[in-house]
Amino acid sequence: MNVLIIGSGGREHVLCWKIKQSPLLDSLYALPGSPAISEIAQCADIAMDDFEGIFKFCEDKKIDIVIVGPEAPLAGGLQDFLVAKGVKVFGPEAAGAKLEASKEYAKEFMKKNEIPTADFKVLTDYEKAKEEIKNMKHPLVIKADGLCAGKGVRICFEESESLMALSDFMDKKIFGASGSRIIAEEFLIGDEASIMAFVDGKDFLILPVSRDHKRLMDNNEGPNTGGMGAVCPVNLDDDTISIIKKEILERFIEGLKKENISYCGIIYVGLMFTKGGPKVLEFNVRFGDPEAQAVIPLINEDLLEIIIAAIDGKIGGKKLSIKSGSCVSVVLSSGGYPENPEKGKELKGLENFINSEEIMIFHSGTRKDGDTWLTNGGRVLNIAAMATNIEEARDKVYFSISNISFDGMHYRKDIGL
Ligand code: AMP
Ligand code: GLY
Repeated sequence: MNVLIIGSGGREHVLCWKIKQSPLLDSLYALPGSPAISEIAQCADIAMDDFEGIFKFCEDKKIDIVIVGPEAPLAGGLQDFLVAKGVKVFGPEAAGAKLEASKEYAKEFMKKNEIPTADFKVLTDYEKAKEEIKNMKHPLVIKADGLCAGKGVRICFEESESLMALSDFMDKKIFGASGSRIIAEEFLIGDEASIMAFVDGKDFLILPVSRDHKRLMDNNEGPNTGGMGAVCPVNLDDDTISIIKKEILERFIEGLKKENISYCGIIYVGLMFTKGGPKVLEFNVRFGDPEAQAVIPLINEDLLEIIIAAIDGKIGGKKLSIKSGSCVSVVLSSGGYPENPEKGKELKGLENFINSEEIMIFHSGTRKDGDTWLTNGGRVLNIAAMATNIEEARDKVYFSISNISFDGMHYRKDIGL
């Protein structure tokens, strides 16, 4: 079987690493991929929004399955385009990807299908919005409706901060059209977790629960980022898992059916455990990044086989066998991240690093100049380690990190604490 993975980051690197182990695989390709991914998959310089180019590549290479990593091509209709031409795709159609691409749509979907989430109001007019938030309780969460690479959410403790957020999103339009509609949302308190499940449109198969660390600095301080590290599993009691399945995932599947959405792929539920029970913060329509780097290494099964089952509508009744123990994955980021990440810094220590069953490096933003690895993005590397428990996995990860360096390198020291 020939498999094509769309994307170029750490999530796509771990997907390639896992799919590469499948006995069902003949050839593995990635578009555009990255220099690190090209060590295990054949990459070509075709952009993720070049749908015609991707289709032609599928024809040339006789691709059997396309697995889409990031949300943007899904929201842009890549699945719809390829499926219409007879290509099998793991990833939802654009109508399903709207659950991530429009927070307003996601909130309305949750409300209609009685999926627990924070109370909210949609604001569409800047002048009116400034008046409306004066009557809203603070802290208040202001969210831009559209895709903003994880930066479109502001927790506003005072009215002045809400006004600033409205000004940035609606007036200055720092995220362009993504901020022209706003969700003003009730502030929730509790621990967070990421629930991911394979979905075939009728059934779901839940993956082990993980936790991202979204803030830049230790103790959850500093600005929100795309995610600074993840741990898996996060142990939840059976009652909580049962509530998540019944009140969130089953209602999600029912909602898809009602809306006639064809959904084969991953649903990612960002959850907060409040005093009133688990509530959904967001839906993503793909594997989390960096969660995938901590969850996928723990899967015993052949990932390709599960993806084929999802495409064939046969997820119901499947079971996932998970390795015992824990995985901790820590992101090494560039100086200046998330605002103005520096690039082009030489990575030192990688040459001595040997990927093993227990410790792996997944590249998020690197490039190669001759034999030298250079940084090429905000999030640069993910170091992931597996061990019998979280403490040992942490020790392994942080020991490995001590051998790697680059100018301006930053990472959180409290992943999994
Ligand atoms: P989102 O992209 O919607 O998941 O939001 C990013 C982060 O903002 C979440 O991981 C939470 O830490 C925080 N957040 C989002 N919505 C809320 C809320 N209603 N109450 C408190 N924190 C929130
Ligand atoms: N880790 C959060 C995300 O993938 O959106």
